[in-house]
Amino acid sequence: MSTDGAVRRIGVLGGTGEQGQGLAYRLALVGHEVVLGSRSPERAAQAAAELVQRGPAIRITGAGNADAAAAAEIVIAAVPYDGHRELLAGLAPELDGKIVIDCVNPLGFDKQGPFGLAVGAGSAAEEAADALPLSTVIGAFHHVSAKLLLSAEPLERTDILVLGDDRAAKDEVIGLIAGIEAMRGIDGGRLRHCRQVEHMTAVLIAINRRYKAHAGLLVTDL
Ligand SMILES: NC(=O)c1ccc[n+]([C@@H]2O[C@H](COP(=O)([O-])OP(=O)(O)OC[C@H]3O[C@@H](n4cnc5c(N)ncnc54)[C@H](OP(=O)(O)O)[C@@H]3O)[C@@H](O)[C@H]2O)c1
Repeated sequence: MSTDGAVRRIGVLGGTGEQGQGLAYRLALVGHEVVLGSRSPERAAQAAAELVQRGPAIRITGAGNADAAAAAEIVIAAVPYDGHRELLAGLAPELDGKIVIDCVNPLGFDKQGPFGLAVGAGSAAEEAADALPLSTVIGAFHHVSAKLLLSAEPLERTDILVLGDDRAAKDEVIGLIAGIEAMRGIDGGRLRHCRQVEHMTAVLIAINRRYKAHAGLLVTDL
């Protein structure tokens, strides 16, 4: 449930992946209706059927990405950086007028571990905004581990940085996050701050490797 108590219909592009399924699960657990999207409707239906097994009240269905985008009020982009821009540009009509939450981290990996990729627009989220001029792109969920989201264990307290250029849309996303157990959404400023936030994930992955953890963020003094 959002803090306003309303049930939202949420589409998840790339919803067959761990991050998409994890976010879908946590949102459905608190009453939202989720449509997992995929390039293959059959794969989406299969992933949705498996998540529904986790609880009788969980409402998750599967569809092609375009149908998931069209059916939803709010859409989460949870695909790898490669192909992200092309996917969103192709769905611009279905995403017109909607909030699109982007959690994509453009990262590379070499012998030294993870590193942030240079992105022409500045960040993956800004690239998404360029591809979707009639949607409101909000960056969020970059630092929350899919493994924890999908775990049957209760979540530990975690903060989710929410970034964007539209205050009302950010407040809507912060409200959505507040409804999820143990999560708090924090306004992290403008969409361009996704440059820092997306690349920060490389640091968290390095921490995870060193400490065998699924580290997230907590912001102090708030
Ligand atoms: N995993 C995490 O813990 C985590 C945490 C925070 C943020 N993120 C971000 O969330 C996004 C998804 O992460 P993930 O681990 O779930 O990734 P993933 O499993 O590699 O990919 C997710 C889904 O995207 C679809 N996909 C793959 N390549 C595509 C392409 N070229 N075009 C369109 N769709 C494509 C696939 O679904 P279909 O084949 O069914 O279409 C796949 O199941 C990434 O950008 C990542 O940076 C991940």
